[in-house]
Amino acid sequence: MKSIAGKHVVLIGFMGTGKTEVGRLLAAALSRRFVDTDAWIEKESRMTVQEIFATLGEAAFRQKEAEALAVLCRQKGLVLATGGGIILNPQNVLLLRETGYVIWLDAEMEELARRLAGDNTRPLLKGGVDFREIYHRREELYRNAAHVRVDTTGKTPIAVSEEILALLWQDVA
Ligand code: S3P
Repeated sequence: MKSIAGKHVVLIGFMGTGKTEVGRLLAAALSRRFVDTDAWIEKESRMTVQEIFATLGEAAFRQKEAEALAVLCRQKGLVLATGGGIILNPQNVLLLRETGYVIWLDAEMEELARRLAGDNTRPLLKGGVDFREIYHRREELYRNAAHVRVDTTGKTPIAVSEEILALLWQDVA
């Protein structure tokens, strides 16, 4: 197996790329603990991500996100699904690359449009914001943060997790 012993398997990528679902499947297959940073923040704050954005603002959410990551990255061997904006903070990226194998889940624009259509749970997509604009601003950040990119277009979460498992095992012989 790739040298991921003790390292986190980290999923980064835009909203709607399936990080949480794929992460759960990977964790089950690898017998590892699964943590979703958004869920972690919600539990710690006793507020939903939506409530944090609405009452404290995005900067406060980003602060909580960085703090959550610092705590989680001190552990070993997690499967970590991250919020889509985790790569906005260079310190987060350094930490993820240092402690984990970073996998960028990506998808074509039409597919993202389908998956995000009618989404009213994600604060950044409220009020008719064009997700494409946010995506294009971030694309390079995802690319630079990742050790590898996996295109999820037209694939089920199971297919994506199997592709990742094959990637992780490809050095075995
Ligand atoms: C965000 C993505 C969300 C959540 C928050 C901000 C972003 O997570 O962290 O709404 O900036 O892209 P998902 O990527 O899991 O939707």
